[in-house]
Parts: sequence; C-alpha cells; structure tokens
Amino acid sequence: MPNQQTAAQVQSTVPFGVGDALLRAVRRLYARHETKLPFHGWHHIRFVRDKAMEFAAKNGSDVEFVGAAALVHDVNYLVNRNSDVAAGRQLRADLLFGAGASAELVGRVERVVLEADMASRDDGISPEAQALSDADTLFKALPITPVVLAHRYLKETGVSLRSLATKIVTDQQRAYDRGFYFYNPEAASSYSTWVAANLTLWKCILESLDDPIVDGLIRAIDALPGQTPGLADG
Ligand SMILES: [Fe+2]
Repeated sequence: MPNQQTAAQVQSTVPFGVGDALLRAVRRLYARHETKLPFHGWHHIRFVRDKAMEFAAKNGSDVEFVGAAALVHDVNYLVNRNSDVAAGRQLRADLLFGAGASAELVGRVERVVLEADMASRDDGISPEAQALSDADTLFKALPITPVVLAHRYLKETGVSLRSLATKIVTDQQRAYDRGFYFYNPEAASSYSTWVAANLTLWKCILESLDDPIVDGLIRAIDALPGQTPGLADG
C-alpha cells in the first residue's frame, strides 16, 4: 500500500514526510557539490545514514530521527572544508526547516550531531548520538578507507599526510583507550580487528615519516606531474 507508514515511522518523533523531504534536499545539495567533497561527499553521508539507522534499530533509539541527524551531520564541510561540526549549524537548520521540521526537532538534531562528534564525545552521550557516532566511526575504521579514501581526504582538506596520521592516531586512540570507540558492543566485537589494524597502520605511517629518506620520497611524489601537492609538511 503506497501510503502505509512503517512501524518505525509511526513511532518516530520525525513527522511523516519530513525524513523523505530531508533526504531529497540533502541528496540534491551534495550532488551540486560533488567535486568539493571527495571524502565527505554523498557516498559518506549515505553510508553513515544507512549504518546509523541499523545501529539505532539495535539500541532501541528513534531510527528515523537518527537517519535525519546522519543526513545533516557533516554539512559543515559544505560551509567550510576544514571546519568543525558547529560551523554547519545554520545550514543544518535551514535544511531541516525546509523539510518541514519543527524548531524542537531542529534543536534535538543539533544536540545529537554535536554529541556524536568524535573530537568531544564521551561515554555519556544519548543512544541516538551513539548510533550516529558508531556509523561515522565505522567509516573511518573500514579496511578499505586507508586504501581508497585517505588520498581523497588529503585532497579535500589540503592537510599533509603527517597531519592526517597525527589526527587519526590522536582522536581514535583516545576514544579506543577510553572504551567508547564503538558504543554498540556488537560493533566493538565485530570490528575490533579492523580498528586495531587501522590504528597500527597510521602509527606506522607516522613512524615512517620520521625517516628523512621516506620524507624525501613523499616530497618526490608531491613533485610528480599531475600530483596534488600537500602530502609532505610545508
Ligand atoms: Fe561523518
């Protein structure tokens, strides 16, 4: 039946139609900025939304609400490529209001997006933020990410390889050590090998960059024709 709502939509705090309207608006927005965000583009948003909704179903939080928060969790990168999550506040609100969300819903999405930010999150965040956080973290810990996406992050942000490695080791090791790398116990168990491998790889990258001959290699790669400069430190 075309107009029948799912159980999740009936119970959700996101009014029927708002989630779909938001999905369409966000998809259109990212399509317009496809080349600007080689790392944080629509492929990232779609993955995080799908996984966040899966984690939300598992931890009993509002699946549609988490899906909406995931759609707008990274719009700060559309405002400024190297900004923090708070820089996306106005654009998030505009997208949500445009989709028919209430001020109360806009405020709740903003709180959950801020809670889930890896740079500041802790073990006391809401179940909705946990679901979003686990999905966003999983994207970083995927074994394919260093191979097929890391260079896209460097291109998008313009940071050096050492800066990226330092950020990953610092942010992710802190969360790992404090026991909230993944909030979902099943995810923590399923993906622990990937997390350990990822952290080890990036620590090894940092170590290798201390070798002057490796540093010379990186600078030689930067100088190759067609190579986007920026792998080496200034
Ligand atoms: Fe993200």
